Amino acid sequence: MACLRSKVLVPTFVLLVFCILALKEFQAGTWFPRLESLHFERVRGGEQEIRSEIGCQPLGTEQRDCVLNLTLNAVTGSLFDEYSEFNAQTREGGNDWPGEVGHTMIGMKRGRNFVMTIESVIAQGLAGDIVELGVWRGGAMILAQAVLQVHCQTCNRRAILFDMFGVLDKTTGGYGKADSYLAVSKEQVQKNFVKYNLLNDNVRFIQGMFDLTVAPYAAVAPLRPIAVLRIDGNFYKSYMDPLQYFYERVPVGGYIIFDDIGSHRQVQEAWADFQKWNGVVVQIQKIDRHGAFFQKTQSFKPNWEKYWEKFPKK
Ligand SMILES: C[S@@+](CC[C@H](N)C(=O)[O-])C[C@H]1O[C@@H](n2cnc3c(N)ncnc32)[C@H](O)[C@@H]1O
Repeated sequence: MACLRSKVLVPTFVLLVFCILALKEFQAGTWFPRLESLHFERVRGGEQEIRSEIGCQPLGTEQRDCVLNLTLNAVTGSLFDEYSEFNAQTREGGNDWPGEVGHTMIGMKRGRNFVMTIESVIAQGLAGDIVELGVWRGGAMILAQAVLQVHCQTCNRRAILFDMFGVLDKTTGGYGKADSYLAVSKEQVQKNFVKYNLLNDNVRFIQGMFDLTVAPYAAVAPLRPIAVLRIDGNFYKSYMDPLQYFYERVPVGGYIIFDDIGSHRQVQEAWADFQKWNGVVVQIQKIDRHGAFFQKTQSFKPNWEKYWEKFPKK
């Protein structure tokens, strides 16, 4: 009997200890070190620890506003109002596409909204990355990174950019004649970050069609919350995939921004279906003619049956 006990109990005990240690490693994000480049590590908490870690002193309110206004004006191309193509009112609402001058098409109002949401999650002490799907020349995320920088948040938060960084796969519909204008390479976006001196290790680029990148990302980074999720993809699937895979990642108190829900029917349909599939009605707040957002107040697991019905597995 004693022999049986040691034959069964000892290995069970050893296995249990192994499982506990493995779980701890897993939670610490060191279990699969080779996935490090795919953003596996956990968000590290404790602002104090982070500040002393990098010797960063957050700017005072006035200096912060100054830097962020300057960045917003630069990315929207508003610094260069002497150019004939520029109209301040149009750019305020993001109603035109910047030509040669400007790194974002979101305009001033949506730019200020993005800053507000990021500053809000920082003020709440809510952990999580800042993610944009659909980045074009990268200007909105350059602005996001500037916010992280002035608040000393670049050690504990990633700025993650998802985009095809090229011509879209025709399954989305694509942009037709505007394809080449909308297709900006990853290298060009990185260069744009460099111009602002904002390309750090916490800025990550995830290249490919969303339906090929969001699922693997969600699988390899299961512990990373998304404090602000900004979707700017224009098409039904370009919204549905991020919503389906990332909705749960946004903690209560975090934000979801829809860049073009006011002006793109496919985006309205995607959001309406997402709510219907999940039996929820979520009030969104208008930012301008195109954009809207909401702060998350409830959590639920998205309905996968409905998603797979609409997009059958191949
Ligand atoms: C309107 S632009 C984004 C504008 C940008 N947020 C800014 O700050 O100016 C749309 C971007 O979404 C990308 N996009 C749209 N659908 C996509 C998809 N399904 N997969 C990958 N990229 C997508 C396009 O390549 C394009 O860069």
